[in-house]
Amino acid sequence: MTEQKLILAVETSCDETSVSVIENGTKLLSNSVLSQIDSHKRFGGVVPEVASRHHVENMTMMVENALETADKTMDDIDAVAVTQGPGLIGALLVGVNAAKALAFAHQKPLIPVHHIAGHVYANQLEQGLKFPLIALIVSGGHTELVYMKDHLNFEVIGETRDDAVGEAYDKVARTIGLSYPGGPIIDQLAAKGEDTYDFPRVWLEPNSYDFSFSGLKSAVINKLHNQKQKGETIIPENVATSFQNSVVEVLVGKAMRACEDYGVKQLIVAGGVASNRGLRQALQQETEKRNIELSIPEPKLCTDNAAMIGAAGYYIYEKGIRGDMSLNGKSSMDLEMYN
Ligand code: KG4
Ligand code: ZN
Repeated sequence: MTEQKLILAVETSCDETSVSVIENGTKLLSNSVLSQIDSHKRFGGVVPEVASRHHVENMTMMVENALETADKTMDDIDAVAVTQGPGLIGALLVGVNAAKALAFAHQKPLIPVHHIAGHVYANQLEQGLKFPLIALIVSGGHTELVYMKDHLNFEVIGETRDDAVGEAYDKVARTIGLSYPGGPIIDQLAAKGEDTYDFPRVWLEPNSYDFSFSGLKSAVINKLHNQKQKGETIIPENVATSFQNSVVEVLVGKAMRACEDYGVKQLIVAGGVASNRGLRQALQQETEKRNIELSIPEPKLCTDNAAMIGAAGYYIYEKGIRGDMSLNGKSSMDLEMYN
């Protein structure tokens, strides 16, 4: 029988305070997530100072909750994993310091985890990663295509040159007058509308896997301002469908080309926007046509959570990577750090 390793993981990179207990990087024993969305809604986006304060207020309770749900104590835990970055620095520091305190007080190894590695490893909690694979990472802060030929071997082959896809969703939503975060609301509206606006698809150079969403975002904003000036009626459902079709076509087109060029078995999707129904549907169709396995975590594992940090943390732990008491949060971090 293989030895069981229990990881306690902490995630505070943005506006979710989350603590989880994971067995061998695959089995979820608890995943306590406290979303701060209601506190940030009235400001139309995440306010970093407010996020840090909420993390401080809730951290102890979340650790207790995750241990209790898993029916474990700190004595049972083999290592403490924590999101080191990238993210909001003040928010990250709360998690890093909590993890350091727990590791120090209970004499456990400390494992620094890259937030995006976490999003990728959310897939390890369900279907499991099958190499070689392409990961399409679509969140509020990141849009990336990553090639992996083995565990923790990340090769970033494409990234956004301006806005992240989730950011574009949230900005377009704000222009239509929707609340924060706008991504899920646009997704719902898009299911009811028609593609009447013919927004641009930005492909960049023919061989590029990079993305650019700021042109599309400006096109939507300009079109809406023009319509308003002319006194024309704006149909939010049609704006949503037209915008989402443009985003999905480019994301799916580039992801499929990457899968073919790299000859992979599996496409995994990660990050908050991975819950988008239009994207999920299009990816399902296109991967089926090409006989590529598609892995998308259930929505609660797509948005920020500590379970995914524990899943990645297990492999980082097995690789022998450790943090010490000088570990600091980092607002930006290289995903290829584990190679
Ligand atoms: O991964 P995540 O929880 O946080 C970051 O690390 O950024 O992603 C949050 C982003 C937000 O921009 C939110 O609007 C977007 O994911 N999002 C969606 C959907 N659900 C969340 N965007 C489009 N469609 C959705 N269903
Ligand atoms: Zn995230």
